[in-house]
Amino acid sequence: MRLDKFLSNMGKATRSEGGKLVRAGKVLVNGVPAKKSDMQINPDKDEVLLNGVPVTYKKFTYIMLNKPEGYVSATDDPNEKTVLDLVDPEDRRRGLFPCGRLDKNTLGLVILTNDGEGAHRLLSPKHHVSKVYKFEALSPISQKDVEMLEGGVDIGGYVTKPCKVTLTGDTQGEITLTEGKYHQIKRMLEAVDNKITYLERISFGTIELDPQLKRGEWRYLTQKEEELFIKQNG
Ligand code: URA
Repeated sequence: MRLDKFLSNMGKATRSEGGKLVRAGKVLVNGVPAKKSDMQINPDKDEVLLNGVPVTYKKFTYIMLNKPEGYVSATDDPNEKTVLDLVDPEDRRRGLFPCGRLDKNTLGLVILTNDGEGAHRLLSPKHHVSKVYKFEALSPISQKDVEMLEGGVDIGGYVTKPCKVTLTGDTQGEITLTEGKYHQIKRMLEAVDNKITYLERISFGTIELDPQLKRGEWRYLTQKEEELFIKQNG
């Protein structure tokens, strides 16, 4: 891997900043000042120091974010705040993107990663990874509505796949989906003449939203969660 790419992937500098740091003699590779930012290094073996501090290699970054209202699930947007605005610039430079989308007014679990292949597999309909959402609706939900939602409803030319709905009150409950069509839950509730007033994702496959994380807060996935992320891809 090129040295400047390594520095940018680890969130230490943009490619051009990396070049400047190298020219200023701030980057040592195996104890020797690097001469060129395009020099090839082996990130698993070579020791890189930036301003005397080791830059440890991690192939991919995985972040759990508790999404607040008002942020779009995109990497950049000319008019809106994005979920990427909530993490550190150092991590943003690593090329993170949200693994799947939540609507602007949906809350809860978003995983940000730069593991493109992993995210792609996780989102692929083939893998049937389940996502659990807490919801509240405007009007009471009947047992008949539950049966219809669970069996599949027409959301405008598409009939949803079987899912699980558990009511926790007259107008609220949890819904588990294994697919993710645009505005799916909102459109499903509309199909039974109701309306979503609150929506929060609380799990994604085997990864659950950390209850310690306040809205807008994030943390790296633990080792165990990273393994779960990779495993549920498998
Ligand atoms: N379904 C929706 O309608 N919105 C979301 O954000 C997620 C699922």
